[in-house]
Amino acid sequence: MAAALAAMGHDVLGIDVVHEAVGQTRDRGVAALRRDVLADRLPGEGRWGTALLADGNVGIGGDPQALLARAAGLLLDDGRVVVEVAGPGVRPTSGWARLQCDGTLSRPFRWAVLGLDDVGPVAGAAGLRVQETVEHGGRWVAVLRPSRT
Ligand SMILES: C[S@@+](CC[C@H](N)C(=O)[O-])C[C@H]1O[C@@H](n2cnc3c(N)ncnc32)[C@H](O)[C@@H]1O
Repeated sequence: MAAALAAMGHDVLGIDVVHEAVGQTRDRGVAALRRDVLADRLPGEGRWGTALLADGNVGIGGDPQALLARAAGLLLDDGRVVVEVAGPGVRPTSGWARLQCDGTLSRPFRWAVLGLDDVGPVAGAAGLRVQETVEHGGRWVAVLRPSRT
């Protein structure tokens, strides 16, 4: 995604806690940093035009309100959070998860699911409002703006 956005002419910075993800992004010629989006300082805080949380990443940390509030803190006054959410009718969940791959089990981590039906109130509690929601190919995205704007 970072590479696709960079190819469209956007200034892009990928963030991930996992070295492999950062390496794969850099291998595609795009800047990426190994950082915890919730706990670490990020470059240009308060000056981001867009914070993109796609592919279920709103589940990071198991607390979508806290993550959206963190993303909101990265933004310029006219910035936006673009967040992919689960579709209509999907109930919000939060808890511990583990990934299994080729017989290897990850350590547990906090994860959450946020759906279209609940993104408004959760965004509101995070200081954001829903500007629009868009469905594309069966995937749902909400565009969030700072409530102050
Ligand atoms: C749902 S996966 C993204 C999958 C990716 N789009 C792909 O196609 O492989 C979530 C990603 O969030 C990263 N992640 C989890 N917790 C994080 C945190 N606190 N800060 C930054 N990245 C985190 C994981 O390492 C993982 O790469």
